[in-house]
Amino acid sequence: MNKKIHMVLFLFIGLMLTACTAGETVSKAVPEKTPVVDEETIKIGFSMDTLKEERWLKDQALFKEAIEDLGAEVEIVAANGDDALQLTQAETLIQQGIDLLVIVPHNAEATAAIVHTAHRAGIQVIAYDRLVKNADIDLYVSFDNERVGEMQATAILDLVPKGNYVYIGGATTDNNVHLIKKGVFNVLQPAIDRGDIKIVYDQWTEDWSPEKAFLNMTEALAANNNQIDAVIAANDATAGGVIQALEAQGLAGEIPVAGQDAELAAAQRIVGGTQTMTVYKPIQTLTKQAAALAVRMAKGETVTTVRSVNNGKIDVPSILLAPIPVTAENMRDTVIADGFHTGTDVYGAANE
Ligand code: BGC
Repeated sequence: MNKKIHMVLFLFIGLMLTACTAGETVSKAVPEKTPVVDEETIKIGFSMDTLKEERWLKDQALFKEAIEDLGAEVEIVAANGDDALQLTQAETLIQQGIDLLVIVPHNAEATAAIVHTAHRAGIQVIAYDRLVKNADIDLYVSFDNERVGEMQATAILDLVPKGNYVYIGGATTDNNVHLIKKGVFNVLQPAIDRGDIKIVYDQWTEDWSPEKAFLNMTEALAANNNQIDAVIAANDATAGGVIQALEAQGLAGEIPVAGQDAELAAAQRIVGGTQTMTVYKPIQTLTKQAAALAVRMAKGETVTTVRSVNNGKIDVPSILLAPIPVTAENMRDTVIADGFHTGTDVYGAANE
């Protein structure tokens, strides 16, 4: 292990205010712990909600890689969607002497307790992908989730300017679902007000479960005598459930469906014609940014951001990366060009 002496850099608030551009807030994440100036390797704890969706396996592997590339260590745990387990796991990480905690909350409100516990131990906390509500969280690093919803609605509204819409939301415990839904309705509301489109079904999906999304979509079809013209689902897993319900009625490929995550199964459905679009979020960019900031903050550096997001308690210094809408048309130029999936995986060896 190389011995390291870390310089602590404090920026003046005045300097930060000068950097403030019109309409943007400059926020700062102030280190609450004594800066690390000892010879220990920085150790980051990564507390994940779940590894259920394909993307989280990428987050797990790429975050580990990014932290190790920075010469630091990471301990990763996943709570299988269990709030009590996520709390216990985080407490264990804190007891093990991590220098900073990165957390993907299962429950935006319940995880505030983890932030308090970490802060009492002098450990800063970064909310990763999902915001922790009503807590003094130190930094939030994610994609612009409102933009995700806007991209979904824009793509679907282009294809279906009039008709009956179904909205299949995500898990209400996840703050992202509210941002995504806000984005969707930013775009749809004028068309709703004109009477061009009608929301005939609008339901959350407990724990983002594809099975629940299938049941919800089955209910939506039955309640509307199959007279549905478009579906916006909060992610690709729920879009998968929706498309199964459409398949059961012989309607898959007839009704535009939007999702997000660019999961392999969704990319295959898009080129196969049963899903219209997804929103690609380059996970590697997220993991690299989060890892770099985690290590800097663990070393006692002050991190500044140009954006902030209110979490009900404070304006959290935030970094929101840009999502990318993906259809069959730009599949090769986006997810495949980035190496997120291979062409063979998406199109099949015979069609590559
Ligand atoms: C993430 C999505 C993911 C969903 C379910 C959301 O918070 O932003 O990418 O599909 O959780 O895990």
